[in-house]
Amino acid sequence: MPVTIVIGSQWGDEGKGKIVDLLAPDMDIVARYQGGANAGHTIAWGDRQFVLHLIPSGIFHEGVTCVIGNGVVIDPVALMEEIEQVEALGFSVEGRLLISHNAHLIMPYHKALDKARELWRDAEAIGTTGRGIGPAYVDKFARSGIRVVDLLDPNGLRKKLKAALDEKNAILRAVYGDDGIDVDAMIAEYVDFDRRIDPYVTDTANYLAQALADGKRILAEGAQGSLLDVDHGTYPYVTSSHPTAGGCCTGLGVPPTAVDRVTGIVKAYTTRVGNGPFPTELTDDLGERLRAEGREYGATTGRPRRCGWLDGVALRYTARLNGFTDLAVTKLDVLAGMGELKVCTAYRLDGKVTDRFPNDLAMLERVEPIYETLPGFEGDLSSARSPEELPSDAHAYLDFVADFVGVPVSMISTGPRREETVVV
Ligand code: IMP
Repeated sequence: MPVTIVIGSQWGDEGKGKIVDLLAPDMDIVARYQGGANAGHTIAWGDRQFVLHLIPSGIFHEGVTCVIGNGVVIDPVALMEEIEQVEALGFSVEGRLLISHNAHLIMPYHKALDKARELWRDAEAIGTTGRGIGPAYVDKFARSGIRVVDLLDPNGLRKKLKAALDEKNAILRAVYGDDGIDVDAMIAEYVDFDRRIDPYVTDTANYLAQALADGKRILAEGAQGSLLDVDHGTYPYVTSSHPTAGGCCTGLGVPPTAVDRVTGIVKAYTTRVGNGPFPTELTDDLGERLRAEGREYGATTGRPRRCGWLDGVALRYTARLNGFTDLAVTKLDVLAGMGELKVCTAYRLDGKVTDRFPNDLAMLERVEPIYETLPGFEGDLSSARSPEELPSDAHAYLDFVADFVGVPVSMISTGPRREETVVV
């Protein structure tokens, strides 16, 4: 069966972009199924580096077709900019990028509402990326969204935008004291997308169904991470989509029976950006060192990421949730020289030990991590090309994680570049 799903197993920023880029040459299609330009998938090769926000991470391989599925929320301004930037690097996009006609659009009022709601929440703010993700999904489920297909009908679009803006401006002004958005300027800008987006738009679910019938190989690229899933994550400190495996089926329109591999991307430690509980967070010097050594700053917003030890309890939870068949462990090199390493194997909750991940916020805020301590390792791991070339204590760390989670490690990333990878 030809579908592989690549999913972040933590709170995002696990290094999915690099792994998707590495797997892409063996694929015919790479498809994004959820999220939007809140994602930042970094690809580095040679001395070049590029951060993709919307375009799937297979775009730098000429033989691969990239699909933005119906489950993604698309900011057309961000998308057009990204297409231009990728083309400026010398990669062709037209004919290789297909956009679902059913995908919903992120409009300026979604971004304005996202920011206004965060200010309104004050101390309770989610810490969103401000990219309008939540409000765009709200409109989708309220059945008042604007879709890619609407861009292709300028007259219909004018009417829909006017109606939407009348309502959104009323809310922005009355509730949030915002200035609101100029209707005419916005309509003028968005009507122009008709011509620009047209070459890319198609019925991608139908395209993927045909591709499956033809035996093509599809890689479904998740954005964010499983613990940010709106149903299964640390609600309300989550994103508004389904990064987990089920999101692939609805977000692309592919059947679950077509999936035969689900690769969980695991950062060798844990990071989180935005607010919400984080049981293994290190707020001391070690946390600072992880941030500095791992260059843990948001690829989309530049915000410093919160850092901590690997949380095995959370990882086992997301492995079960997604049915991971294998793990790709990233940033192992960052742990070199950190001294003894810790992996959280249980929580203490109200005096009792549990190995269950509570996705109830109040409980998660009360847990204390219980750690297993493992020997650290040293040296520059980036030149290793086979498992044997890694220090034995690095092996021991990976074996411990694989045994604890019950899922084998298939790939190890030891640096940002394509070549800094060990395939097991
Ligand atoms: P939103 O997706 O912008 O609404 O943000 C909701 C939460 O998800 C916030 O905590 C964000 O920091 C987090 N988030 C969204 N996208 C990413 C990502 O690509 N990596 C890591 N965290 C993310």
